[in-house]
Amino acid sequence: MHDMIKLQHLLHGADYNPEQWLKYPEILSEDLRLMALAGVNVVSVGIFSWASIEPEQGRYTFDWLDCVMDGLHSIGVKAFLATPSSQRPNWVSDKYPEVFRMDERRVRNLHGMRACSCFTSPVYRQLVANINRKLAERYAKHPALMLWHISNEYGLDCHCPLCQSAFQSWLKERYDHNLEKLNDAWWTPFWSHTYTDWRQIESPSPQGEFGSQALALDWKRFVTKQMVSFMKNEIAAVREFSRDVPVTTNLMGTFGGLDYWKFAPEVDVISWDSYPQWHGRGEFDRSGPFGASNYNRDTEGRDWALAADVAFVHDLMRSLKDGQPFLLMESTPSVNCSWVQKQKRPGMHLLSSLQAIAHGSDSVMYFQWRKGRGGIEKFHGAVIDHFASTENRTFRDVAEVGQALKMLAPAAGTRIDAEVAILYDWENRWGIDAACDPRRDGKTDYEQTVRNHYRPFWRMGIACDIVNEDADFAKYKLLVAPMLYMVRPGVGERIEAFVRNGGVLVATYWSGIADESDLCFLNGFPGPLRQTLGLRSEELDALYEGDQNAIVIQPNNPLGLAGEYPARLFCDVIHPEGAETLANYRDDYYAGRAALTCNRFGVGLAYYIAAQSDERFHLDFYSALARELHLKRALETEIPEGVSITRRSDGESDFIFVMNFKPITQSLKLPQPCRNLLGESVVDGTLILGAYGVSVLTTGRE
Ligand code: GAL
Repeated sequence: MHDMIKLQHLLHGADYNPEQWLKYPEILSEDLRLMALAGVNVVSVGIFSWASIEPEQGRYTFDWLDCVMDGLHSIGVKAFLATPSSQRPNWVSDKYPEVFRMDERRVRNLHGMRACSCFTSPVYRQLVANINRKLAERYAKHPALMLWHISNEYGLDCHCPLCQSAFQSWLKERYDHNLEKLNDAWWTPFWSHTYTDWRQIESPSPQGEFGSQALALDWKRFVTKQMVSFMKNEIAAVREFSRDVPVTTNLMGTFGGLDYWKFAPEVDVISWDSYPQWHGRGEFDRSGPFGASNYNRDTEGRDWALAADVAFVHDLMRSLKDGQPFLLMESTPSVNCSWVQKQKRPGMHLLSSLQAIAHGSDSVMYFQWRKGRGGIEKFHGAVIDHFASTENRTFRDVAEVGQALKMLAPAAGTRIDAEVAILYDWENRWGIDAACDPRRDGKTDYEQTVRNHYRPFWRMGIACDIVNEDADFAKYKLLVAPMLYMVRPGVGERIEAFVRNGGVLVATYWSGIADESDLCFLNGFPGPLRQTLGLRSEELDALYEGDQNAIVIQPNNPLGLAGEYPARLFCDVIHPEGAETLANYRDDYYAGRAALTCNRFGVGLAYYIAAQSDERFHLDFYSALARELHLKRALETEIPEGVSITRRSDGESDFIFVMNFKPITQSLKLPQPCRNLLGESVVDGTLILGAYGVSVLTTGRE
């Protein structure tokens, strides 16, 4: 946690929307009583309160918020005070038409919903800065204030004329005011798209330019930059009155529209909103009407596989600020806006909440504290139901988490030490998505591919950081970089140096294809990685779903692998140029050709997995690598499928989270006696975890 906060304990709380209840004073005082019973010590207030604190321009009604802040303080609950920019009041729309967002079809939104403002509009920036200043001026010194919650889930891009001209200006800077440079980078002679004036450049649109992949990439970069600048504008206004209270903004995991690596340096603490669909049924369990990212379901409906995907995002969030603890800002205490609102089965709430802590969060927070009586989210899970009984299962589940977090207080601020880095890079994802080859059916799924390579480490209890191409790789033993399609300038050289100096790299098919402008490398794929990997890729064969090929492992290979594994969807036909072949293709015109290679380079090793395989292959391959490299595991024991183990530490005390994501009892052997922090008992020999059970063990002084 950022040292502005210096947490002595873990945080437990929820989004709190008292502005919806101002006509129910008895409910507001009841809320305070119930917060204490639920073990809540923090709430986020004011996220959607603009209309309640500035009902007309320049008239402020802070009295109710004063009462709320004072009330929270009176019971020792802290506030994350939000800036309200994610939805503007009606009067703003009435007066200032330029603030309306325009979508990619160039259609202006009407007033309504939320997150539908233009982030370039100077008027909108001014109005937001103004309300932020007022809030900061009034509450900077309030004893309940703990953190500024800047906006809510920045997301949608805007294509209005103001954004178009800001985009053109940004491009001028990027290409040194030299249009020829842009034309070269964007390969515009293709289909006679050469620009002769900066004003001809427009953002991608389904009715216009949707074929220029370089344009699509630069547009996404611009949108990230513009949103970050909007956020900085918000923060600057707050900072005029509130210098030493930390700021955060709640991110949406692997949301595809923004590069969160660019947000991280501008906030003091990373926070995110996590909404997995537990107990789902795979493909049918689509994400909700707000279209969350696909991390929130497993296509085969396995809770434990979904847990691994969620763990990946937690690890990503922790890694965004170099391992500093993050905040789980929102999660649901029961159900959310999915198509099927299946309730969490007993145990799952505690388990999934502690999973965030296990991966480096210092909080468990919910959307939301109390269900509204009306509105689109009135059936969304909340700590307090319409009938506000403390006997409700959800309330009891939440109170149980509150208790557990108290017992785990010493874990606050502890860190996770990782020897493995998994490379996940938003720009690379945009490059792959824009290219949409070698399959045009969405199966070139970068995000899922990265998670597939992460999962074996999750299963083995090996900690991973998630890094992007700009990271310092040198501190890791192993760098796993699946589908590194886009290699930005200097990255190939840094990966090469990493391996030369003793690092181990794992790369796959569809790597080293294009540069940061999506221009293909001309010196043979995998471009800047060719020498490090010791091979050249000649052609990538994309297979149909039912097509079968296989990777046949060569006998006596150094990793001790044996047998056959499926090769499916993508088979890269390669020429080893110094790399040793560990496995070959079984069938087709490339039967007998290399399918898995290892290149000795300097004092390091670079593996290349030429074909997409399955979970069994990933587990066997990475288990062998983990053995070879003596990678540290959270606990040296055999881990049953579905159980995940992580370790947080402050150097003196270790906190070992053992989590069972299967609906059956499972057990594992402990290498040494441990104290169970949740049960206050000593566990010796075998640890038994019930269905969706979790234990937190310690071996240190705590
Ligand atoms: C989040 C949002 C919350 C609430 C929640 C419902 O994305 O920040 O305000 O709408 O979804 O799941």
